[in-house]
Amino acid sequence: MTSAPSPIENLLTENRTFDPPEQFLERNPVIHCADMETYKALYERSMNDPEGFWAEQASKSHWFEPWTKVLEWNCPDAKWFVGGKTNMCFNCVDRQVEDGLGDQYAILWEGEPETGSPEGHEVRRITYGALKRDVSRFANALKSLGVKRGDVVTLYMGMVPELAIAMLACARIGAAHSVIFGGFAASAIVDRVQDAQSKVIVTCDGAWRRGSVVPLKANVDEACTRLPGVEHVVVLKRCGNDVQWSEGRDQWWHTLIHGQSDDCACEHMDSEDLLFLLYTSGSTGKPKGIRHTTGGYMVYTATTARYTFNLEPGQRQIFFCTADIGWITGHSYTVYGILPNRVPTVMYEGAPAWPAEDRFWDMVERHRVTHFYTAPTAVRAFMKWGEEYPRSHDLRSLQVLGTVGEPINPEAWIWYHETIGNECCPIVDTMWQTETGGHIITPLPGCTPTVPGSCTLPFFGIDAAVVNEQGEELPANAGGLLVIRKPWPGMLRGIHNDRERYIDTYWSKVPGMYLAGDGARRDERGYFWIMGRIDDVINIGGHRLGTMEVESALVSHDAVVEAAVVGMPHEIKGTGLAAFVTLGPDCGDANHDELRESLRDHVAKEIGAIAKPDMIRFTNALPKTRSGKIMRRLLRDIAAGKEVTQDTTTLEDFSLLAKLRESDE
Ligand code: WT7
Repeated sequence: MTSAPSPIENLLTENRTFDPPEQFLERNPVIHCADMETYKALYERSMNDPEGFWAEQASKSHWFEPWTKVLEWNCPDAKWFVGGKTNMCFNCVDRQVEDGLGDQYAILWEGEPETGSPEGHEVRRITYGALKRDVSRFANALKSLGVKRGDVVTLYMGMVPELAIAMLACARIGAAHSVIFGGFAASAIVDRVQDAQSKVIVTCDGAWRRGSVVPLKANVDEACTRLPGVEHVVVLKRCGNDVQWSEGRDQWWHTLIHGQSDDCACEHMDSEDLLFLLYTSGSTGKPKGIRHTTGGYMVYTATTARYTFNLEPGQRQIFFCTADIGWITGHSYTVYGILPNRVPTVMYEGAPAWPAEDRFWDMVERHRVTHFYTAPTAVRAFMKWGEEYPRSHDLRSLQVLGTVGEPINPEAWIWYHETIGNECCPIVDTMWQTETGGHIITPLPGCTPTVPGSCTLPFFGIDAAVVNEQGEELPANAGGLLVIRKPWPGMLRGIHNDRERYIDTYWSKVPGMYLAGDGARRDERGYFWIMGRIDDVINIGGHRLGTMEVESALVSHDAVVEAAVVGMPHEIKGTGLAAFVTLGPDCGDANHDELRESLRDHVAKEIGAIAKPDMIRFTNALPKTRSGKIMRRLLRDIAAGKEVTQDTTTLEDFSLLAKLRESDE
């Protein structure tokens, strides 16, 4: 197994246990799963009678027509709530309006404060009623462009309410969306739009980030030079920056919705109709379009959100997930899992440390946020910035703290618990993936005793196990492969346009079981400990990147002949990117510092800033085995500083090291 270095390595001895805090139990009259007996009973029920369990959960959603069969499982193909007709947008929006809750807040949005004026908060509070109107108008606008049921609409926007509105509008009319993270560059747009065959892209003129404008429309323009199939680009005016205009193709959002009716019926979607595509990195160069369908994803996100965060509309809750909607976390726990639970969801634009390092705490205080959900990398950044930032705000509204994206190191866990949670908020370390749709292993607040660094126990219906390559379950504490042995409603339904890759990636290594791609172990009490990816995927601060993607980007630079990218320990990100690069013959005299900057910029341009290597080292040749495989483990050791000194300016000669190490690859 070749797992990347991960902060989990020092966790193996962690056994401090934290029972659900008293204060949490006192403050929450309703706890959906209030003790471990209830958890065990419900979990067992979900294993012995999954169809009965999921039918009960699904009946909390609205269906135009009931399903005839809960599950049709033909490994690796699942159909959930077969024959059922529903609409995700109806469940997120209309249902609340129909139940007389139209005046309640659905979305609380906060724009990036103006530079130098932290008081100038731009806040929008959108009720379910207003959301229904805005979504319907935009849905009609999309229809006026010819968007039909079954089409895929690409959304490349900043964190503005209109992004959620556009997603819901697509769901309303039965078009799937493909959201592309606004931090990705033009070529990432090209790949995704081509694969999805989108004819319509919705974007913004720009997005605010740390006081400057990210030129989203310009990136779309650049991508469109290579995308002849794009017929319409809808542009939301956000920053007022200058944009180029392609007459006939481009339309302003505000012009397009002008005069559109507030009335747009929800399509009756089949449970297995595509709800969205979301592209994520895999071990080869091309990103995978993960397919999520309507009914199963809807039921799974609503159910996990309800239990994992103990959502209960009667208990004045405000939910704040800090993830960008461009990632699955934002899809599932800013929008789709939260709105049907009738708890206001907070969206923010900009960056965590802007205009100051207390941005989140300031928001928590002013909006009286009860649920705060972020990534370990963010917690480590908060620690580094210092406790004066959270200390200067009243955080007593907080009740549940969540983390997601990567293992959390105990030091960060304890800091989160003490400094943010004041020791009275349960921490839910939620393990899941783009592919799983929602949480698969997680504590339940008020119920599960937690241990820093462990994501604890499987969610209802998730038959998670640690196995060897033969699929045999391993004894306590043995490291192995994390698999799921039964289908669950939120599971991916495939990789868009790539059946073979779907089977190869998830269902081949251990036949008949879903392979998560993570190494894991389970301790004596059955708690799971995630030990990091077992494939060539690197988790950078909770964002997944394929080493091959970054390598291809590097190799496309004129100076580069060959490149190998591996993970290395990073104080804040958990794992950073180290690139080993061989240069062409003309580059012998090049200034290495300049070249390094130019390579970093090039990668940012090809993929996005998140893929910039943290360290670049030049070498005469990459260390390879006799059969020509790059010795990644050796490179990881070197990147971690285990083998050689951090001299990053000289060209390295690995041949000797490679010879010494050849035997262990
Ligand atoms: C990979 C999935 C799910 C939203 C964010 C990332 C890692 C995720 C945890 C956790 C340890 C975690 C795994 C997983 N991961 N959550 N709580 N503890 N590792 O989604 O980009 O699909 O990445 O993130 O390695 O496979 P993603």
